[in-house]
Amino acid sequence: MSAKSHGPRLYGRAKGHALKPRQAKLVAELLPTLGLPDQMDIRTDIVPDDTPLWLEIGFGGAEHLIAQAKSNPDVCLIGIEPYLNGVAKALVGVDENGLKNVRLQRGDARLILLGLPDAVLDRVFILYPDPWPKTRHHKRRLIQQDFIAELARVMKPGAQLRFASDIAHYQAWALSHILESGHFKWMARRADDWRTAPADHFPTRYEGKAKRAGRPCVYLDFVRKQRG
Ligand SMILES: C[S@@+](CC[C@H](N)C(=O)[O-])C[C@H]1O[C@@H](n2cnc3c(N)ncnc32)[C@H](O)[C@@H]1O
Repeated sequence: MSAKSHGPRLYGRAKGHALKPRQAKLVAELLPTLGLPDQMDIRTDIVPDDTPLWLEIGFGGAEHLIAQAKSNPDVCLIGIEPYLNGVAKALVGVDENGLKNVRLQRGDARLILLGLPDAVLDRVFILYPDPWPKTRHHKRRLIQQDFIAELARVMKPGAQLRFASDIAHYQAWALSHILESGHFKWMARRADDWRTAPADHFPTRYEGKAKRAGRPCVYLDFVRKQRG
C-alpha cells in the first residue's frame, strides 16, 4: 500500500542508523512480499475468510509482534510501523523464525487504516505509543477521536483492543477518549486487570526501559461494542 503525500503529519523518526547488510537485503527482497496491497480485499488478497486478523500499530523493535506470531500460528499478524529500522528488525524476526503469518506495512497507521475494509480485524494492539508529554503536543498523540472512530470501523464487533502505556497522563487520556467514543467497553473488573500484564502479553523493548526506570505500566483491554 503506497503512502499518501497528504494527510496527517508523521511526527518522530522514520529512519535511524544505517541498516546492517542482512537487514537491507530483507528490506529489498522480503518486505515487498509482505506488504499490504493497494485497494485490497483483505479476505481474498491476504488470508482465507476464517483466519483471525490481528494488527499491531507502532511495533517498534517488533518483540511483541514476533512473539505473538510465534505463539499464534493460526492468526495473521499485521504490523504497521513507520520507522525503517523497526521494520528491518521485524523482517529479521520473520526470517529467523520462518514465520508465514506476518504482514508488514511501513507507514503511518492513521493513513493505512483508511485503506482497510469495515469490520475486518479481530484484535488490535497499541503498545507504548509516543506519549508527547507537553500539553502543546497532545494533538500529536495517536489516540484522538477521529483515529478511535477509524479503529472502531475496521474492528469486528467483539474484537479486542489492547492499549499499554507507562505514562500516567496518557493512560488517563486513552481511557477517557476511548470510552467517550462510545465504541468500546473497558473489560477491567479489578485493579490487577490493568496493573498487571495480561497472561497473553509479551513485553516490548520500550516497556523494559519503563520498568527499569521504575515507571508502572498499565494495560487497558477494551472490546469493540456491537454496532448500533
Ligand atoms: C515509544 S515507541 C514504542 C514501540 C513499541 N511498541 C515498544 O513498546 O517498544 C512508539 C512507536 O510508534 C511508532 N509510531 C509513531 N507514530 C505512528 C503512526 N502514526 N503509525 C504507526 N506507528 C507509529 C513509532 O515509530 C515508534 O516505533
